[in-house]
Amino acid sequence: MSGGTNTLEQLLRRFQNEILFGAVMLDKLTWDGFELTHACPVAPRSWLLRAKPPQHIQEGFGLAPELLFIAVQGEIQARDLHRAADEVVRSGLRLDGNLVIVTDDGHTYDGGRPLKDRLERIPGRDQRVAWVWGEDRFWPPLSEVLRQQLPTYDVFEERDAVRGHQLMGRDAEVMELRTRVLRGDAVGVFGLRKSGKTSLVRAVTDALDPASGIMDPDAEHVASQACVIWIDAQGLDQAEVDDVADEMLAALRRRMRTAGDSYEPPAKQGIGGLKAASQAILDARRRLCFVIDEYDFLFEREGNLGPVPGISRLLRQVRALSQQQQGAVSLVLIGRDPEHVSVPQLDGVPNPLLAGLTPMWLGPIRPPHDTEMLRTLGRRVGLAVGPETATLARAWTGGHPLLHRQFGSALREEVRLHAPRSLAKEPTDPHREGAVERFLGRQAVLDVDREIIALLSKRYPDAYTLLLDLVESPDPATAVKRSGGPQGSGARMLRNFGLLDEATLALPKHLSWYVRTLLPTQTRVAV
Ligand SMILES: Nc1ncnc2c1ncn2[C@@H]1O[C@H](COP(=O)(O)OP(=O)(O)OP(=O)(O)O)[C@@H](O)[C@H]1O
Ligand SMILES: [Mg+2]
Repeated sequence: MSGGTNTLEQLLRRFQNEILFGAVMLDKLTWDGFELTHACPVAPRSWLLRAKPPQHIQEGFGLAPELLFIAVQGEIQARDLHRAADEVVRSGLRLDGNLVIVTDDGHTYDGGRPLKDRLERIPGRDQRVAWVWGEDRFWPPLSEVLRQQLPTYDVFEERDAVRGHQLMGRDAEVMELRTRVLRGDAVGVFGLRKSGKTSLVRAVTDALDPASGIMDPDAEHVASQACVIWIDAQGLDQAEVDDVADEMLAALRRRMRTAGDSYEPPAKQGIGGLKAASQAILDARRRLCFVIDEYDFLFEREGNLGPVPGISRLLRQVRALSQQQQGAVSLVLIGRDPEHVSVPQLDGVPNPLLAGLTPMWLGPIRPPHDTEMLRTLGRRVGLAVGPETATLARAWTGGHPLLHRQFGSALREEVRLHAPRSLAKEPTDPHREGAVERFLGRQAVLDVDREIIALLSKRYPDAYTLLLDLVESPDPATAVKRSGGPQGSGARMLRNFGLLDEATLALPKHLSWYVRTLLPTQTRVAV
């Protein structure tokens, strides 16, 4: 958020003049130790503010360095919340992607309903904390409201890609991917379902080109020198290659509009249009990054249709651009594995990516970051995650991000059952075993396991055989040796997917549990 030439002080003065309750709100924040950092009018009588919480609140609740506020005179609308989501993208990693504090005065008008009720009716999965004065016209301190409201929301239960400060434990991966993108590499980000691939790549592209990740085309413009063209191949499965190129052109046009960029991609469509547009961007000495999320769908179309016809033309074009403008063009493919881009021929011609794609395998969140994630999210919901709990969680989930969060969610459920209304931080160690039971009952756990089994048994028989052997065998080292050793294809693939602990050769317990209890015996011996 920039206020043009206005200083923060001027903006805050304007805020207090325009919004009836603005002065009270700012007073309350200051009283609580918050430091205002940004203020921006986003529509008539609608403002976004950002403030740094005092350290004890930030750490006590595991919050991002800044909190986001929406203040509306009248009634808050869905679009105010969309603007807030876009602000998260704009802020780099300074805001939580799943938390916003909302204030309006809709409830003070005749027939106005409480803000909390109205917020519940606006779709979306993030936590909206309603902060308003009560019936007695007393406005409670925000710290108190947070203490009451934050624990009521299950922050662990999240299935979509995470944004902003919610990306945890991936600093090294973000740095590596960023370096590769800036170097103009073609990178494949591979990993199991829900291992955090989209979240990782978004963290890099949000920083490089926020406009590529902002949804509201009328948002305040954010310019950048890099152009990220992001498409999701899921849903394009009936497409021809020109449709894929058109999708990219549409993404580019959206990005240009959001950036307030005067550049208009040429009207020409298809591969030809994409070529002309790319050339024009590069001629303006700008960087270009293509991202294809769920790239597998371009190669496995529904009904066993095989690759999108002509897909090699598109890949070849990206490669040609990147060779011609060394370092200025990068490509990021996101998917489960490099299977489709490692075939020698595509469309009957040599595969343009065969030698040029650097694989980046995204495994689990490594210690101690897995524990930090559990602790940070735990603080937000009023849990003091203990060391025994952290060790147990690691053993069961192997650090897989979605599963680790699911463990936290199961833990929260278990603790709340035993200590329902405690407002102090509740120690989790006494409840850890109960959490395992709940964790194993989660549909998300079964889904991830089923997909791991399907993937390995279909595409990686050596890894599958080794997996089954490891589940049965008391001595993992011998099982690995039997499969061809640590460098054999079975062990290598399990390691790529982050399923085999480097040091102990242990499998995550959710997976051995799944194979032992839920995988039919005939499937187990079928390979
Ligand atoms: N770095 C992270 N920190 C915290 N949570 C994460 C992180 N990465 C992933 N998650 C959790 O995992 C879930 C899946 O993340 P994401 O959608 O990025 O994975 P993906 O590999 O792209 O999944 P898919 O297979 O559906 O494409 C998120 O909803 C979030 O709960
Ligand atoms: Mg994804």
